[in-house]
Amino acid sequence: MTDNPQTAGNAMWGGRFSAGPDAIMTAINASIGFDRRLFAQDIAGSRAHAAMLAACGILSDSDAAAIREGLLTVLSEIEAGEFPFSTALEDIHMNVEARLKEIIGAPAGRLHTARSRNDQVATDFRLWVRAQCDAALSGLAALQRALLAQAEAGADWPMPGFTHLQVAQPVTWGHHMLAYVEMFGRDAGRFADARARMNECPLGAAALAGTSFPIDRQMTAAALGFDRPMANSLDAVSDRDFALEFLSAAAICALHLSRLAEELVIWSSAQFRFVRLSDRFTTGSSIMPQKRNPDAAELLRAKMGRILGATVALFTVMKGLPLAYSKDMQEDKEQVFDAADTLMLGLAAMEGMLRDLAADPARLEAAAAAGFSTATDLADWLVRALGLPFREAHHVTGALVRRAEARGCDLPDLTLEEMQAAHPGITAEVFEVLGVRNSVASRTSYGGTAPVRVREQIAAWKERLG
Ligand code: ARG
Repeated sequence: MTDNPQTAGNAMWGGRFSAGPDAIMTAINASIGFDRRLFAQDIAGSRAHAAMLAACGILSDSDAAAIREGLLTVLSEIEAGEFPFSTALEDIHMNVEARLKEIIGAPAGRLHTARSRNDQVATDFRLWVRAQCDAALSGLAALQRALLAQAEAGADWPMPGFTHLQVAQPVTWGHHMLAYVEMFGRDAGRFADARARMNECPLGAAALAGTSFPIDRQMTAAALGFDRPMANSLDAVSDRDFALEFLSAAAICALHLSRLAEELVIWSSAQFRFVRLSDRFTTGSSIMPQKRNPDAAELLRAKMGRILGATVALFTVMKGLPLAYSKDMQEDKEQVFDAADTLMLGLAAMEGMLRDLAADPARLEAAAAAGFSTATDLADWLVRALGLPFREAHHVTGALVRRAEARGCDLPDLTLEEMQAAHPGITAEVFEVLGVRNSVASRTSYGGTAPVRVREQIAAWKERLG
């Protein structure tokens, strides 16, 4: 990055200025340190704009050809890491244009006809965020496939289902994995919705009011893959709701990732030992040789806070701004860049951990049987077999749990006599519902944990994900 001290009178607007900016002004004003990430979008937007200007007779064909060709040279310089970025030139838009002038000379000065940096940056940033929606969608699909592979392997493995992190009722491993497939499916829906809504082109809104040149906004919109031009020039340059929608979708997705990461941390602990994380996603301790720390899961959990932070930050930037563009909006990019990078890393890390994850079906099943997890099955049996009102069945079952607790055993270990002491109508049949496999197999209601239902859902998701 070079600081051009000679810019006493900026090359882009020097006409009105007699002195260059203070060094501190340059430091607070410049965005090139981060918005250089928009270079490909900026060049694509400028090339589409030049072609449109020529097609509309606003620019000569030869000037447009020189501009379009020169922009490709700029592109390859940036891609090769040979581009002389300048802080004095403030942002990616002016850096590209200034370099274009060095390469092709005078025609470069005609590129900015009928546009402003306001519609330019709005267009570039929309293109960038749109690509991130696509990246999130493919990251989510990959993660869902990893979850489905886990679900398929353990469609009928009983494990404890928890409420309040207390053992509640047995569920299946497949069912638990599918719960996250659903969550990430809704996340994908949010990114797809946001993408569809943001796919309108701001270019041609110019500074805020539109332009007096006879431009063709349909043409630039189509060239850049947008569905249509934005209908209101003030709106086009002044809203960042597309970025806020991306961040909101990312924040909810991050929350889901973080909850799953938390479960992996708990499940991989010595107290649970439900799963083993692979060497590839854990670290050892420099002092305690026995340790296998779930660092990737912990960092994933922690990093998701950055996404929430970015979301709050951009909402805060936008909330008090009058129409149309205000320089405050330059602060949109770093937040979105960081959130997007963090999200993509999080999705990839979670997918990797799940691909390698080894669940322990024996540990899961043993834990599923502990903690009187089939007490609800017992109460349901009393209702079904003996016709008890559920409230009474609940009471009888509670007495049996108390009895088992006193004896230090589980419900299936009670004798028939002990059972009958709580209710004389109980028969030996009751023991059939107390096993965890029977328990999960019985929960066949739509969306329930029974392996038969889980397998149906796996098949449906495989079809959806292709
Ligand atoms: N670097 C600016 C941004 O990111 C570009 C737009 C500048 N527009 C202006 N009127 N100063 O928002």
